[in-house]
Amino acid sequence: MRIAVFGTGEVGSAVAAKLDTLGHDVVYGSRHPRADKDSIPVLSHEDAARHGDWVVNALHGEDAMATLPTLPLAGKLLIDIGNFQSVMSEPLTHTLGESLQQALPDTRVVKTLNFVSAQLMGAPERLPSPHTMFIAANDAGARAEIHQLLQNFGWRDILDLGDLTACRSMEMLAPMWLRLYETLGHVYFNIAVVRDPQA
Ligand SMILES: NC(=O)c1ccc[n+]([C@@H]2O[C@H](COP(=O)([O-])OP(=O)(O)OC[C@H]3O[C@@H](n4cnc5c(N)ncnc54)[C@H](OP(=O)(O)O)[C@@H]3O)[C@@H](O)[C@H]2O)c1
Repeated sequence: MRIAVFGTGEVGSAVAAKLDTLGHDVVYGSRHPRADKDSIPVLSHEDAARHGDWVVNALHGEDAMATLPTLPLAGKLLIDIGNFQSVMSEPLTHTLGESLQQALPDTRVVKTLNFVSAQLMGAPERLPSPHTMFIAANDAGARAEIHQLLQNFGWRDILDLGDLTACRSMEMLAPMWLRLYETLGHVYFNIAVVRDPQA
């Protein structure tokens, strides 16, 4: 799969490296195009958008909203891992996932991975017991495609939460993540939804 990862920071680097390891044709989209970063080409936002059948948002939400809607992303699947920085300190009034979908009506937006550390996104086995990843998208086919990708990343407990209104709860996990990080002092944790198999 041809995949463009927007953002060369902590999340972009972790996800691009994992996708590269899995054999995908990966490029970065960056404000600063250059030959490569760890052997992955770093293209302009425009060129990266044209490269990817799938694109990954690894930008802060405010930057994503200023950048992604200006790009030729019609017909593509957008994996949104971002959060608004404002959600860390203010009540959530609108979500990034829904805002991106509204701004890009011909792009299939899928929300996932936004509430775990970059270190765990492609390495869920780093934690010693089962833990949960959520997916949301308005398009059921897109949810199924990303479910498969997450399985390839190593995720075993993947919960499909349905349409993008689920972003209202998924993005509220970002401040929870920050509080847990401040409490625990490291990034190696996640939530697990424990269910009664008989229910
Ligand atoms: N860090 C985590 O563990 C983690 C976990 C879950 C979710 N997230 C979410 O993932 C997203 C990225 O987080 P991160 O920690 O990877 O951030 P980061 O390390 O700061 O990287 C963000 C990248 O965005 C690009 N960028 C910076 N300013 C920009 C601007 N004004 N316009 C366009 N692009 C800009 C930069 O790439 P270029 O210089 O190449 O353009 C930068 O490397 C955020 O929404 C965050 O909430 C992070």
